[in-house]
Amino acid sequence: MQRRDFLLRISAGAAAGLAATSLGSCLSQPENPQNTPVDFTLDLSQFPQLNRTGGFLIKDNVLVARTIQGDYVAATVICSHEQQRKVVYDDDKNQFHCTAHDARFDSRGKGLNSNGKRNLTVYNTQLNGNDLRVYS
Ligand code: FES
Repeated sequence: MQRRDFLLRISAGAAAGLAATSLGSCLSQPENPQNTPVDFTLDLSQFPQLNRTGGFLIKDNVLVARTIQGDYVAATVICSHEQQRKVVYDDDKNQFHCTAHDARFDSRGKGLNSNGKRNLTVYNTQLNGNDLRVYS
């Protein structure tokens, strides 16, 4: 085997290995919660951050926030753009915001810019006394 042929085979193998690694990392992305049912209840006496407007918490990849108006909203923390877990609640604008690439969504999950065009999965909330149910 010529040295040139040997080097070509090595580089082809390296490219195949790189492709397999990239594919593997794609496959290990976090599960998209759009297909995962959500149903849990929070005792608000245990979560003071939800007793003030603009406060939020994250449980099981679900962000639960209290809006300036005093309502509760919930959405996945996994962004629809590139599936990063970087969605937060921006109380100044009453929007969900992904800090990775600035995707923005209204409180109903509707995308507000190009990185948010796939919308965001949101969940229902229901307050019964001190219990806040979050469900899909
Ligand atoms: S991953 Fe959220 S904006 Fe890109």
